[in-house]
Amino acid sequence: MAKKIHLNALWKQFISKGYVFLLVVLLGVQLPDVATGQSAQRMVINVDQSEEVINKHIYGHFAEHLGRGIYDGLWREDDEGNFHIRQDIVDALKAIQIPNIRWPGGCFADYYFWEYGIGPVEERPSIINVLWGGVVDNNAVGTHEFMELVDALETEPIIVGNVGSGTVQEMARWWEYMTHPGPGSMADLRKENGREDPWNVHYWGVGNESWGCGGHMRPQFYADLYKQFATFLHPMGDSEPFRIAAGAAGDDYEWTEVLMREAGHMMEGLDLHHYTITGSWETKKGEALDFTEAEYVELMEGAQFFDELLYRHKSIMDVYDPEKRVWLIVGEWGTWHEPLEGTNPGFLHQQNALRDALTASVSFDMFHRHLDRVKMANIAQTVNVLQAMILTDEDQMILTPTYHVFEFYTVHHDADYLSFYLDAGEYVYDDIVLEAVTATASRNDDGVHVTMTNVDPHESRRIEIDLRGDEFRQVSGRILTADALNAHNTFEQPDVVSPQTFNGARFSDGKLVVDLPAKSLIVLKLR
Ligand code: AHR
Repeated sequence: MAKKIHLNALWKQFISKGYVFLLVVLLGVQLPDVATGQSAQRMVINVDQSEEVINKHIYGHFAEHLGRGIYDGLWREDDEGNFHIRQDIVDALKAIQIPNIRWPGGCFADYYFWEYGIGPVEERPSIINVLWGGVVDNNAVGTHEFMELVDALETEPIIVGNVGSGTVQEMARWWEYMTHPGPGSMADLRKENGREDPWNVHYWGVGNESWGCGGHMRPQFYADLYKQFATFLHPMGDSEPFRIAAGAAGDDYEWTEVLMREAGHMMEGLDLHHYTITGSWETKKGEALDFTEAEYVELMEGAQFFDELLYRHKSIMDVYDPEKRVWLIVGEWGTWHEPLEGTNPGFLHQQNALRDALTASVSFDMFHRHLDRVKMANIAQTVNVLQAMILTDEDQMILTPTYHVFEFYTVHHDADYLSFYLDAGEYVYDDIVLEAVTATASRNDDGVHVTMTNVDPHESRRIEIDLRGDEFRQVSGRILTADALNAHNTFEQPDVVSPQTFNGARFSDGKLVVDLPAKSLIVLKLR
C-alpha cells in the first residue's frame, strides 16, 4: 500500500512539472485515470470466436454424510423422528441451477454400505460415523431418499461407490439396483422398496481419495483395483456407467501418470481433489473470518494456483489420452478453514466471507482456462460443511457469499466460451504477485456475459474492453462486494454480502469501459 501512495505522489510531481506530456510521447505510457487513480487496463474479447462450451457440470455440488450436511442440513427431522427434505433449500439450489450433486462422500463413501440404507427406515442398521465426529448415522437417508432429493432439485446424481472397505460385488449390485429395469433380484428389491422404474444414473465414482482415507493405496495398487471394480459395472437399461477413478491429491502428478497409464482406457473421468487453505494441514489452518492481508493473499494464491495445477495434470493426461476423452474432474475443491468455535470439530462447519466468494470466482476462472479437459467440478460442500452455499440454524437458512458467485456464474452454464486477452496488472504483496483481475466471457442465446473479479483489496481497476467481432449497445450488471474482506452473512443480518446493481460499465468511443472496484466480482450482460 505504501508503495502505491509513493507512486501516486511521483505522478503528481511529473504532472506539475509538465514532464508528463514528454513521457507519454516518448514511452507511450497510459495516464492514470482521475477517478480510479489507475491506468486504464485492456481487455479484448473475441465475441465471434468460440470453440469450446463451458460444461455446466463445472458448477457441481457435493453432499456427504458429514456434520450437518445431510441430517439437520438438506434434511430436517420432525417431532416423530422422520426426516424431510427442506423445500427452502431446494428452492435456493434450484435458483442456481445445480447441475449435479455428489453423494454419499467423500471419505464416507468408502465406509458406506448401501444395503443398510434401503427398506423400512426403522429397520435400517445404524452405523458410527467414525470419520466425522463419531456420531450415529441411522441410515435414514439412503439411496431412495437421496434420489428423491435429486428429483426435487432436477439435477443429476454422482454416486461414489465403496472400494476401500466394500467389495466388487456390493458395488456391482448397487449399480444394478439403481439402473436395471428388471426382472432380476436387484430390480425386484428396488420395486419392493417402492421404486418401480430404474433411476437415471450415469456418473459413478469408483472409490474416493484412495491414496488417503479411501485405503492409503499406492497408485499402482489402486489402478489394478480400479480396473477390477470397473469391470463389473455394465450398461443396464438406459444407463451407461460414466466411470470416475479416484484422482490425485493436489499436485501428486505421479498419481495421474500411473492411473492414466495403467487404467486410463477404462475410465471416463479422473477425480482430482484440491482444497485452498491458509496455515497448515498438519498443525492449524487459518480462521474463516479473522485473517490478515497476508492470509488473504495466501488463499488467493491457492485459487490462482489452479491454473498451474490443472495445466500439469492435463499435460500428463494428454500423453495417454490425446483425444481428451477422459474428463479431468475437480471432484472436491473450496476453502477449508478452522471449524467455527463451539461446533463439533469433526463437522467442518465454517463461516463464509467475501474472501471465500472471491476465491470461488477466481477458481472458476482457472477451471475455464482448461475447459478442453476440465468438464466437471464439485464444491465442498453444499450445506453447512466447508465452503457451503447455505448455512442453517434449525428452521432458518442463510445464503453465503459463495452462493451468490454460483448464481452469477449461471450465465456461463453450457455457454460458448469466448477467448480473450486481458492485462489488468498485478496485485503485489511482499514477494507474492497475483493477477489483479481474472475473468470469464461467454455467449448464449441471451447475449454475451462477462464475469470479472478484482482480487486487489485496495485498488479499483479501470478496464477498457474491445468487443471484437460484434456490436453492442446495452450493458447491465451486478456486483458482489462489501466493506471488508471478512464481511459475511449471519442469521441476524443475512444480506451483508449480497448482489447489488452495478453501474460502473458504459460504452465510450466504441469501447466498453468498466470501473471494477477493489475486492469485487461483477457480472455484465451485453446486448
Ligand atoms: O470434504 C471433506 C473431505 O475432504 C472429504 O470427505 C474427503 O474426500 C476430503 O479429504
